[in-house]
Amino acid sequence: MEKHASPTVRPLVSTPPAGPLSGVIRVPGDKSISHRSLMFAGLARGRTEITGLLEGEDVLRTADAMRALGATITREADGRWVVEGQGLGALREPEDVLDMGNSGTAARLLAGILASHGMVSVMTGDASLRRRPMKRVTDPLSACGATFVAREGGRLPLCIQGVADPKPLDYRLPVASAQVKSAVLLAGLNASGTTRVEEPSATRDHTENMLRHFGATVHVAPLGERGRVVTLEGRPDLVARDILVPGDPSSAAFVIVAALLVPGSSVTINGVGLNPLRTGLFDSLRDMGADLVIENARVEGGEPVGDITATAGALHAVDVPAARAPSMIDEYPVLAVAAAHASGVSRFRGLEELRVKESDRLSATVALLRVNGVEVEVEGDDMIVHGTGGAVPGGGTVETRMDHRLAMSASVLGLVARAPVRVDDTAFIDTSFPGYLSLMTEIGAEFG
Ligand code: S3P
Repeated sequence: MEKHASPTVRPLVSTPPAGPLSGVIRVPGDKSISHRSLMFAGLARGRTEITGLLEGEDVLRTADAMRALGATITREADGRWVVEGQGLGALREPEDVLDMGNSGTAARLLAGILASHGMVSVMTGDASLRRRPMKRVTDPLSACGATFVAREGGRLPLCIQGVADPKPLDYRLPVASAQVKSAVLLAGLNASGTTRVEEPSATRDHTENMLRHFGATVHVAPLGERGRVVTLEGRPDLVARDILVPGDPSSAAFVIVAALLVPGSSVTINGVGLNPLRTGLFDSLRDMGADLVIENARVEGGEPVGDITATAGALHAVDVPAARAPSMIDEYPVLAVAAAHASGVSRFRGLEELRVKESDRLSATVALLRVNGVEVEVEGDDMIVHGTGGAVPGGGTVETRMDHRLAMSASVLGLVARAPVRVDDTAFIDTSFPGYLSLMTEIGAEFG
């Protein structure tokens, strides 16, 4: 069994480096695709070899949970894992509580699997995950016949009585959430008949892509103003197929923004996933005047991939439309750092979903900037950042609230601050980007 993060607090001080950032690097595998590859391979019949798996805490929790459900999962080498699945419907009841750590994706997707198998299970998580809403998955999943007992507000720990013969669901998502869409589709795998999920706007489609890869019939059709609909034919013969996981664009984001802000920098990241439903940050940075070049665009393992070079230069303010939020939902904290350094007043619209991430990321991002002397406001669900047009004041201590992306965003802010930026705890970075601080040091960042 892999070890999980110790609760030891790891503070950090971030200051401007002596020179520019430079180098050619790779970032760890995509978190969304890594979770899905372990889950779907565990549900498929046969041996799947995964290359480039993210070995972050969140994904290790998914590996442990799938093992508890009967899949054989082995780590063969760095990022190379083998999963032997028993086939759909053949999972066994877990003997103990499933602890999903900090990971909302692991918990919500797994709920779809557990609800659609005739077994009783209990799922919990760390203090951050235990605060996050689960009703968004238990409400739709109840219609397949499963029953759930949760704490007040639908919070974890959650007890699930799954059903061996689930009814196929027909559900319109009230919010654009790939996690909820995926939970419904995963429940549909073991249901006979067609499962339908409507989404108000397109969210990351890794579940749809990977299910097709394993042999399921999945269709996506536009619904005009109403978004789009995904249909899945139930009880497919899921057959093991190898998977190549691209570099995570959401992790690349921190390195890219750092390279854009630190004067004179130029950094290339090879093999970054460029699924168009994930690249809203790159569009927003380009709208700000960023010099981002993509080379060697190719398809690897069914996902678009490319090498990205970010070169430092002056950035100006941006108005990010709400419609772009699903394609960059995890990137707002680091975009806010870029906007703080840019000239002019930026506005990010429609950020209600940020309130229910690993932390309330809307208020936490506001606090991150304010404590470092950047003027920022919230109007309804919009965030407004007053750019300083150069180095930000800094000098504050950022509370990261068990949220990896806040810790990394704060570390980037310090690279362009006049006074040191202190980060109360960087331990949670390991959930999604193990090795982040040493990779940044390798390209020239200096942290104390
Ligand atoms: C994810 C979907 C997003 C994202 C999360 C990963 C996924 O969450 O924030 O980091 O892998 O499906 P929502 O579906 O809640 O928007």
